[in-house]
Amino acid sequence: MEPLELIEKFYPPGSLSLRLLTEHSRLVAGKALETAGKVPHLAPDPDFIFEASMLHDIAIFLTGAPSIGCHGDKPYICHGYLGREILENAGLPRHALVAERHVGVGITAGDIRTHGLPLPARDMTPRSIEEIIVCFADKFYSKGGKTPAREKPVEEVRRSIARYGEDKLAVFDGWLRLFGHF
Ligand SMILES: [Fe+2]
Repeated sequence: MEPLELIEKFYPPGSLSLRLLTEHSRLVAGKALETAGKVPHLAPDPDFIFEASMLHDIAIFLTGAPSIGCHGDKPYICHGYLGREILENAGLPRHALVAERHVGVGITAGDIRTHGLPLPARDMTPRSIEEIIVCFADKFYSKGGKTPAREKPVEEVRRSIARYGEDKLAVFDGWLRLFGHF
């Protein structure tokens, strides 16, 4: 499976969105593989982690995010579950769940109902170790902006997650412990 071949079906060659998507996805893949190395006892699958990292944001082109070259009509938060649809249609159901479950530290059906999010009201939290690793690694890199290649310090990531609630920060802190950050 060659992730770039699938990505190139949806993104025009040379486009800003393609450049930012592939740059971000490669950075996430690197961090995800490094993270996988911290938990050998859980036997995460490195080939799958690489592919899923490359594909987790494949649906951003369907959303309205002009600063990163995306001119779709869906809210940005929808790119996770829309990515699931694309990847399921491509015959990649396992990768599809990584896409659906990587937004924030995962979104619960309760979050969707409570906040009236424009998402199908189902559980979208990462469960397998590979789903957790890609979601975790993604939080260390922005897309676009001035310095997309810069890895955010842990405290900066924690502050941005804390804006969504103490419960979300507790999830992330649990992952920091799991991956040996403290
Ligand atoms: Fe994303």
